[in-house]
Amino acid sequence: MTTDPLVEERHGSVVVLTLNRPEARNALSLPLRRALADTFERLAADHSARCVVVTGGPSIFAAGADIKAMADQTANEAADRSTAPLWRPMKDFPRPVIAAVNGYALGGGCELAMHCDIIVAGRSARFGQPEIKVGIMPGAGGTQRLVRAIGKFKAMRLLLTGEPLSAEDAERAGLVSEVVDDDRVLPRALELAASIARLPRRALESIKQTVLAGADLPLDAALQLENRAMQLLFGTHDQREGMAAFIEKRPPQFD
Ligand code: CAA
Repeated sequence: MTTDPLVEERHGSVVVLTLNRPEARNALSLPLRRALADTFERLAADHSARCVVVTGGPSIFAAGADIKAMADQTANEAADRSTAPLWRPMKDFPRPVIAAVNGYALGGGCELAMHCDIIVAGRSARFGQPEIKVGIMPGAGGTQRLVRAIGKFKAMRLLLTGEPLSAEDAERAGLVSEVVDDDRVLPRALELAASIARLPRRALESIKQTVLAGADLPLDAALQLENRAMQLLFGTHDQREGMAAFIEKRPPQFD
């Protein structure tokens, strides 16, 4: 019997995706990557999925790319089997994604967490890019998103030594949004997701898109992008309703 490498559960408008390869420490095999890509692509078109939580369960987030599947690969094979297209649906997912990280988030696992918008980590979580220890380097944002998240000198220490950061150090460095007790990781991620899911969808999408697009632009261009995106929210049902509800001192009824 084959088990699904990714388990999807619905909690109202929150979707929880659980990596499900405990025997391989949730290493990102091709079927698991495909399942993630297909699921994010489908959820992108489903406006009722307001927020997604990605977790690896209570023991480990993900041990990275599947080393056993790539141990004998040549450079040409690596190029032919590029996983970049499989990351794209997650990279481009329009609504908020929360990583709920218990245990190790290593290599592609740390990169998976960095594709998310908010990272909730348990006290014993560890974040690292140990690719150097197996003779390669990160290939899904580990040398780029990590530097943008925590700066050159902390990132270089992780990348060049392969040694992980504790959850507390990762939070101090800016890689983690919140550290909680290990058994609170998923409940806290679900709390955050539920509160986000109640907020206006278009504004959430605009904020996410503007933060991500603006981060790669010169400040003036990014500020223009922000200003334009803010203006476009006027006239939406949720803007009318949110402001009317404030003025009338009642709870808003968002779309
Ligand atoms: N790929 C394939 N199998 C893996 C794996 C991985 N990344 N990580 C763990 N496994 C397998 C182990 O081989 C082992 O399988 P067997 O039972 O068949 O021997 C099983 O999972 C359990 O592993 P451990 O006994 O090592 O478990 P542990 O709890 O003692 O340690 C761990 C956990 C610290 C995560 C350790 O397994 C580990 O260091 N894993 C490798 C981490 C790593 O180097 N990641 C980077 C991969 S490269 C990458 O991600 C870059 C890229 O995208 C290109």
